[in-house]
Amino acid sequence: MTELDLTRSLEPATVYLKDYRKPDFLVPTVDLTITLSGELATVVSVISVIRNDIHQRSVVLDGEKMDLLGLKLNGRILADNEFELEAQCLVIFTDLNEFELEITTQLKPSLNTELSGLYKSSGNFCTQCEAEGFRRITYFPDRPDVLSVYTVTLIAEKSECPILLSNGNLISSDDNSDGTHLACWHDPHPKPCYLFALVAGNLKYISDHFVTASGQKVELNIYTQEHNIGKCDHAMKALKDSMVWDEQNYGREYDLSIYNIVAVDDFNMGAMENKGLNVFNSKYVLADQQTATDTDFEGIESVIGHEYFHNWSGNRVTCRDWFQLSLKEGFTVFRDQEFSADMGSRAVKRIRDVQTLRAYQFKEDAGPMSHPIRPESYQEINNFYTVTIYEKGAEVIRMLHSLLGAKGFRNGTDLYFSKFDGQAVTTEDFVGCMEAANNTDLSQFRRWYTQSGTPTVNVEQEYQDGRLIITMIQSCPPTPNQPTKEPFQIPIKMALFSSQGTKIEEETLSLTQARQKFVYDGLSDKPILSLLRDFSAPIKLTVSRTDEELSRLIKIDDNGFSRWEAMQELSLRIIIEALESESISDEAYSVLLVALTSLIESPPEDKAIYSEMLSLPSASYITSLVENVDPIKVVEVREACITRLSRDLESQFHVIYASNNQRAEFSLSADAMAERALKNTALSYLVATDQAAYHALASHQYHMANNMTDRLAAFAALIQSNYPDRNVLVEHFYDQWSDQALVMDKWFALQATSPRLSVLEEVRRLSSHPSFSLNNPNKVRSLVGAFTSNPRGFHRKDGAGYEYLIGKIIELNKINPQVAARLTGTFNNWKSFSEPHRSLMKAQLERLFNQKDLAKDVSEIVSKALQN
Ligand code: TRP
Ligand code: ZN
Repeated sequence: MTELDLTRSLEPATVYLKDYRKPDFLVPTVDLTITLSGELATVVSVISVIRNDIHQRSVVLDGEKMDLLGLKLNGRILADNEFELEAQCLVIFTDLNEFELEITTQLKPSLNTELSGLYKSSGNFCTQCEAEGFRRITYFPDRPDVLSVYTVTLIAEKSECPILLSNGNLISSDDNSDGTHLACWHDPHPKPCYLFALVAGNLKYISDHFVTASGQKVELNIYTQEHNIGKCDHAMKALKDSMVWDEQNYGREYDLSIYNIVAVDDFNMGAMENKGLNVFNSKYVLADQQTATDTDFEGIESVIGHEYFHNWSGNRVTCRDWFQLSLKEGFTVFRDQEFSADMGSRAVKRIRDVQTLRAYQFKEDAGPMSHPIRPESYQEINNFYTVTIYEKGAEVIRMLHSLLGAKGFRNGTDLYFSKFDGQAVTTEDFVGCMEAANNTDLSQFRRWYTQSGTPTVNVEQEYQDGRLIITMIQSCPPTPNQPTKEPFQIPIKMALFSSQGTKIEEETLSLTQARQKFVYDGLSDKPILSLLRDFSAPIKLTVSRTDEELSRLIKIDDNGFSRWEAMQELSLRIIIEALESESISDEAYSVLLVALTSLIESPPEDKAIYSEMLSLPSASYITSLVENVDPIKVVEVREACITRLSRDLESQFHVIYASNNQRAEFSLSADAMAERALKNTALSYLVATDQAAYHALASHQYHMANNMTDRLAAFAALIQSNYPDRNVLVEHFYDQWSDQALVMDKWFALQATSPRLSVLEEVRRLSSHPSFSLNNPNKVRSLVGAFTSNPRGFHRKDGAGYEYLIGKIIELNKINPQVAARLTGTFNNWKSFSEPHRSLMKAQLERLFNQKDLAKDVSEIVSKALQN
């Protein structure tokens, strides 16, 4: 690190949790009048301000990227010496304890490509204020512990913006004589400014209603561009299901008479829970049978649920500061996961969530950005909307649920919602409620909030004369700023099975010591150990079990997750061993083949689990488990396994395919989706044989399918194979769907993940395709983002893949720093790769580091990657 001046990385100010101070001034009311015309927005903000406690400090309002046009205090224009305008804030000098400010600002939404603050998407105005976007609309104390009641008047040309929306209830609307019209919205619930939203433009909507448990009628609307109006029904159903679910499971009712959702094409994340006016990435609203896959339908249900659940976990009870982000995100992810589990297959939902956690969060926790779910510091808060805050945060809530039981957990959330309603609080307040409601001590459990890293638990078993001794040893590797760790409290769900398959024992163990023994007596012979059932903790667990024991569990375990896990563990052993010895031995392969053959002979009842059990662990998960790893070797070994299995089990896969390809009518029932998943898993194996007959079978499915799940599965299988008509097929798909932005995202992503050696050249070419745009985050994710998950292209041994990515990041740094920073994070684990990858990645990181004018989003990631 000698040649680089890393002190430069200290330049962007670091914000520390320990520096938290309550706000100097409170703002009980906000009255906004926003005029939108063509390229300009003019904002008149009238705020009531109250000094918070006795102090002499000036008023400091955050603000950036806008012009200040006027400033009055209690109706009087301020003289030059009464305020100071700085680059990122407005300072007002006054001794008054209570006063009113009128601030006029002007901004240009159409030039806002960062998609934070007020911007335009497909010609319509919309906002994204979380985390710190409100300060791009007006000068304001932009922090979540300042709660205000908002009244918002929107004025725009009626022809240009027939729809004018903001938070809360519509209280009046009127036409003016000059062709403009106005709408006035009032939100009675005090909220932080990150939950403010407005939408204005030419939109259509579908409408429905919901009656809450206490009999309040709520109007439900989903807004979208006219051509997509037919694709909102699934989202509407998901919204109504979410409303029922939160009443039944948490006793939470909706609290306004209107709930609006708007779908926009340009959005940095999935969706945003603005009070009464959710703004969504159109990917998580729009779906129909012809254009959306089952995965898309499930994604919509979960994100609609997620944003709806935020109304209580986030809005009614919000965060004191951004270090508490997991208070609302971890909890809300846990809530949406359980909602999806109740709506579909619980075990499969768990399997998918664990796959995400392992593939992304474990990786994050092993790299330079590793942080606890309640971080201690950040440079750019946008970089802390991480899989750790969200997914590991949800796992921590899930562990509380396991330790306290469903009833105890519910008592805790009831207390939390009633005690803190209308307040901005901390994760400590949440844990405190769990403790108080259950009369228990969670002091050791709290380490999950402050210690980073993925704990490892090694399990040894000893059996003798009817006695089983299980010894568990926990540890946690060092992470940035945390060289050593204290033991965690880890709930471990376990069961013992007899060799005949009878369950002898089932309980949740609480592992609290660094080394702890658990003893079972009176056994008639050595039992089979099923551990970490339902993945009861976000840890890496290793246990000495023979191949035979795992094979037995694949057959007999009555926990869907654990049954799948046993199959994964067996395949992982074989693949990792093959990686070490450079090729897969016949002996190891036959263990895998026997296990899959017997799985196919007696499959689990749930076809969705069955489909997951037939699938090998992902390349990215395998890669994350191996040190000094050659990422290309991983895909080669994995694909070699798949090819061999596809030939040896060809007839079985054919039977699976045929027997699950019987349905004529399209349905979104869990059974129908499971059948499609299973059939398409079989199809991908069949196509992997590379026989012309199966190319023809897939091509037939592609052309005849009555839904996108089947069509896309066939398309994907074919373009990843040596199908001779590949290029014709790619063209055909484009011609059919080029007018559907979300389908084009799939088209880009599948080409970017192609195993062909020329993939980088294809990705370069697609980067200037007319349907591609660097200004649209969905497009960037589907082409550039997907490419980074393609080892053969991204990890090319000449470094051209890394060079391409850094080039795109440099372009995006100017257009959209949040998106640029996300892509930069794909280099985080550069040290875990073998040479030449490691040095090539480092050189490209240095190239990025040396760029002038790096946004602090990007500079935080790149400097941490080079430092830690
Ligand atoms: N709170 C949003 C959620 O539900 C996250 C989010 C949406 C966000 N848009 C954002 C975060 C932009 C940062 C920047 O999870
Ligand atoms: Zn959220």
